[in-house]
Amino acid sequence: MEEFRGREVSMSVEIRIPSLLKIGGGAFNEAGALLAQLGCRRPLIVTDPFLRGQGLADRLQTQIADAGIHAEIFHETVADPTSLVVDAGVRVFGQSKHDSLVSLGGGSPIDTAKAVGMLVANGGRVRDYKVPHTIPLAGPTHVAIPTTAGTGSEVTRFAVVTDSESGEKMLIAGGGLVPTAALVDYELTLSMPARLTTDTGTDSLTHAIESYVSRKANPFSDGLALTAMRTIWKMLPLSVHEPHNRGAREAMMLAATQAGMAFSNASVALVHGMSRPLGAHFHVPHGLSNAMLLPAVTEYSVSAAMERYADCARSMGVATAEDATEKAVERLVQALYRRNAELNVPTPKQYGIAEAEYFAKIPLMAEQALASGSPQNNPRVPTAEEIEALYRACWGTRGAANRR
Ligand SMILES: [Fe+2]
Repeated sequence: MEEFRGREVSMSVEIRIPSLLKIGGGAFNEAGALLAQLGCRRPLIVTDPFLRGQGLADRLQTQIADAGIHAEIFHETVADPTSLVVDAGVRVFGQSKHDSLVSLGGGSPIDTAKAVGMLVANGGRVRDYKVPHTIPLAGPTHVAIPTTAGTGSEVTRFAVVTDSESGEKMLIAGGGLVPTAALVDYELTLSMPARLTTDTGTDSLTHAIESYVSRKANPFSDGLALTAMRTIWKMLPLSVHEPHNRGAREAMMLAATQAGMAFSNASVALVHGMSRPLGAHFHVPHGLSNAMLLPAVTEYSVSAAMERYADCARSMGVATAEDATEKAVERLVQALYRRNAELNVPTPKQYGIAEAEYFAKIPLMAEQALASGSPQNNPRVPTAEEIEALYRACWGTRGAANRR
């Protein structure tokens, strides 16, 4: 097979990132001042019931009030944002004459706010804008405050919303979805439980690797991706096993945002393409479904981009500069399987998915994966049959035992 080597000639790429990022401990406390600076008068805080219950959303509302701005809270977002919840958010936004959005939470509240803003500006339903449809107008000012490290949604041009009627996890994409500003404060992640830390961190690692090997990779995204994967590979186990290790949490938070900027400007690939249907049909959290697929999909893909995957291995420190390309790639695949075992990532079977239902859904999941467009960015572009074979391969074999 001919190796995909990236761009032969230099072409211009359009880079989109928020126009303002505040990164570091205590950034959360600057939301009120930032909204004032941006000229927002009636922000709607979009969050989830958990963060409302924890008091974090109310803390944010009070802090914004201290800046002389009245914010209201919409806390009905759900773990996988649905079009129904987005529609409810649009109604609240309009009824109370809000002029801006502040999202607080993991990827779900941030994605919900993006979709609300999109419909406020353009009307219609979320499904009208699902990829490959475009989004004509950008939404109102949106300040994103992530509480996980993370989906990177605070800096990306993507959102994933489940169609409440069909159950499909729809990808929506456009420069207008990039939040205006993001407050990236690792202190908000100190209380994340181990499973959430693992899953969201693995999502970030997948973003970094996929953006580096993507057919849309570019020099801007490459640097961010390599830096992010180096940090995440080292710091993720530390932040899982030592949840109050501030250095690890701070490094993970920055790396998740860097990985977000990388994939927003280079796209994700086959892992994400296959992960969305798996998550949608069987209610597997996004980061976890990525983790279930990452080793096998990487093993399938490496032959088409050996040098790029070898760079990943060296950057992550699982291979040395002296290792030949083939050796480095082999070490990468082994390391990904081994890491899943160490972090107790279950297979779909171990997760409790019914076997008959899983196998019956494979053709549909493959079709939906291809329709999302992400597999076409993969260095090795799969057929529907190859995607089906990968779903079958991931079912019950984590592969760790025979790869140590
Ligand atoms: Fe992701």
